[in-house]
Amino acid sequence: MTLPNPTPDARAVVTGASSGIGEALATELAARGHSLILVARRGEVMEELATTLRHKHGVTVEVRACDLSDRDARAELVEELADRHVSILCNNAGIATFGPVSGLDPAYERAQVELNAVAVHDLTLAVLPQMVERRSGAILNVGSAAGNMPIPNNATYAATKAFVNTFSESLRGELKGTGVNVTLLAPGPVRTETPDPADASIVDKLVPDFLWISSEHTAKVSLDALAENRMRIVPGLISKAMSVAGNYTPRAIVAPIVGTFYKKLGG
Ligand SMILES: NC(=O)c1ccc[n+]([C@@H]2O[C@H](COP(=O)([O-])OP(=O)(O)OC[C@H]3O[C@@H](n4cnc5c(N)ncnc54)[C@H](OP(=O)(O)O)[C@@H]3O)[C@@H](O)[C@H]2O)c1
Repeated sequence: MTLPNPTPDARAVVTGASSGIGEALATELAARGHSLILVARRGEVMEELATTLRHKHGVTVEVRACDLSDRDARAELVEELADRHVSILCNNAGIATFGPVSGLDPAYERAQVELNAVAVHDLTLAVLPQMVERRSGAILNVGSAAGNMPIPNNATYAATKAFVNTFSESLRGELKGTGVNVTLLAPGPVRTETPDPADASIVDKLVPDFLWISSEHTAKVSLDALAENRMRIVPGLISKAMSVAGNYTPRAIVAPIVGTFYKKLGG
């Protein structure tokens, strides 16, 4: 099994392409010859990336500045993608909040659910019919090791990622034999930029440098896994350890342990 071959009218869509893992996915897809549609809110940042990728790899790159947490803005994109030839979809855009939900901004928590979960569902449903009809397509959904367990002080994020993890792995089962690949990327910590020592997070301080994985490595192994139609890719040692702990430790035991750790992140 492989990724769909690049063709002049086919596009690989990457959400959250203006930074981090999404930017790395877009860069790796362009290096493999795929023309792109980049989606995030910061259009100017994506235009810069688009210019670089066009020059370096000779691919076509389109930019869609869109707030995916906004239902109306998202509906326009959904409508467009349903009518385009989307060969690959990477649902990557996501945000996280920390601390007790009771103290967080309800509007931002709702936006997090819209972006992390509902937009993933909407975009997937927009492109699935054409992929199934062509008997060719590939969908990479970015969930998280956080979606494997209850996490007090990270409740909305953990719940939205549980949705992405379960939706992706269920969908993959439905699509067996259709020619459409679905892979879940469920990482633990990925270092998307070098932290400033002055305001490094507790995770930055606790995890030694050699255990971190980069966005670039994550993008490469995830697209390889998608080409092989693997169910789930969990890159890096910490991610694998978090994954095993989250999947096999009783939830009543794991919740207070991770909750205490995430309380520090919330502070
Ligand atoms: N890094 C990690 O350690 C880690 C671990 C597990 C899972 N993940 C998951 O990996 C994905 C990427 O994370 P990252 O670390 O690369 O994050 P990041 O660098 O903060 O990138 C997030 C991307 O999402 C976009 N985005 C945010 N809000 C948006 C909105 N309302 N509409 C459209 N786009 C929006 C951002 O672009 P704009 O600001 O331009 O909109 C940006 O391109 C996320 O789903 C995250 O949950 C990350």
